[in-house]
Amino acid sequence: MTWADGFDEQAREILRRNDRGGYTIPTSGLYPYQWNWDSAFAALGFAQFDLDRAWCEIETLFTGQWTNGMVPHILFHAPDEGYFPSHEVWQGTGPIPSSGISQPPVAATMARLIYERDPEIGAARMEMLFDKMVAWHRWFMAWRLDRGAVCVTHPWEAGRDNAPDWDVAMAAITPDGVGEYKRRDTSHVDSSMRPTKYDYDRYIWLVQRGARLGWDEAAMLDGTPFRVADPTMTFTLLRAMRDLAVMGAALGRDTGEIEGWIKVLEAGAATLWNDDLGCYDSRDVRSGTWAGAVSNASFLCWYAGIDRPEMRDLYRDVLAQVKYGVPSLPPSDDRFDGKRYWRGPVWGVMNLMIALGLADMGLTDEAEALRASTADLVAQQGFAEYFDPRDGGPAGGSSFTWTAAIWLGWASPNAQGV
Ligand code: GLC
Repeated sequence: MTWADGFDEQAREILRRNDRGGYTIPTSGLYPYQWNWDSAFAALGFAQFDLDRAWCEIETLFTGQWTNGMVPHILFHAPDEGYFPSHEVWQGTGPIPSSGISQPPVAATMARLIYERDPEIGAARMEMLFDKMVAWHRWFMAWRLDRGAVCVTHPWEAGRDNAPDWDVAMAAITPDGVGEYKRRDTSHVDSSMRPTKYDYDRYIWLVQRGARLGWDEAAMLDGTPFRVADPTMTFTLLRAMRDLAVMGAALGRDTGEIEGWIKVLEAGAATLWNDDLGCYDSRDVRSGTWAGAVSNASFLCWYAGIDRPEMRDLYRDVLAQVKYGVPSLPPSDDRFDGKRYWRGPVWGVMNLMIALGLADMGLTDEAEALRASTADLVAQQGFAEYFDPRDGGPAGGSSFTWTAAIWLGWASPNAQGV
């Protein structure tokens, strides 16, 4: 027995407890459905002790795929009164009640990590998933590009709900006619840790607009106030393309189309370079304004296979400002709020992806330091949704699936295969 064994057991227990049969919920109460990128990370956690269950998690996610290829950010498999906005508000048009937007495409990348644990089983499961993943990626390429960078059409699509990256686009929305609604999130966790009412009015306004337009991408594009080219989407899709191409080649598929997309996205990633900031940044497409944010998504460049010396210096600079990295925004930024979600706190899944990228770039000491610091955070503070970067204080929901999953799949000293 090592000190980590007990934490591994707790993490497995969280995954089992959040398992609803073929899919896991992020945490009971606050997030009672299947979330897209949460599930991909959950699969990595399951892969440490139940490979079949790991594949099943991803397969269930793709049962919600729309005919246009989109894979929704939430699948409402079973009704739950404790969450707002429900399917009645979203009116997603897929085979399973769902939201109408997507989330960062990390499924192919997590699938590749799981595939490598047993390539024979992996090939059999990917045989069924490959075309679905290609169709999802094709949907991004068809509907979400601006100069080759991937855009979000709602803050929730990037998975970084209240990041400062959206402030300009959010300010362009006048949420007239949004009507009365009852938030549920603030009855599960303290409102100081959640997005504000200003944000929520605009989130819901965008949902109502999409629902009214039947989630028709062409119609939504026309005159939308919200379209932001963002590092989370661009870097995760670029990485996912590379991983999908590798698995496609192993399956004997033609990967020419994917190789072409990689070139487009590489060029797109370059358009996210903000020279004044010296960092990859979000670009508001409508106004051409930069967010000016050194976020944890900026540091996903390496994960996407892209390097710039400035990013390495900046990384050290940002880590020097906090006890636990990588903060979603550094304390030196006026907009920093150590407890409020994506405006400061540390998120385990982002750390996992940043560390994968650091290791790919040969920065193995930095990758190992980030793993060890994330392991400390979880071991000392528990499996919280996210953490305050100044003192590690746990925040948001508890017994959180993705924190347990990244513990098992990466942060735990016992983790294998990342
Ligand atoms: C929040 C996060 C998002 C995550 C979801 C479920 O909305 O911002 O990234 O997918 O919760 O955990």
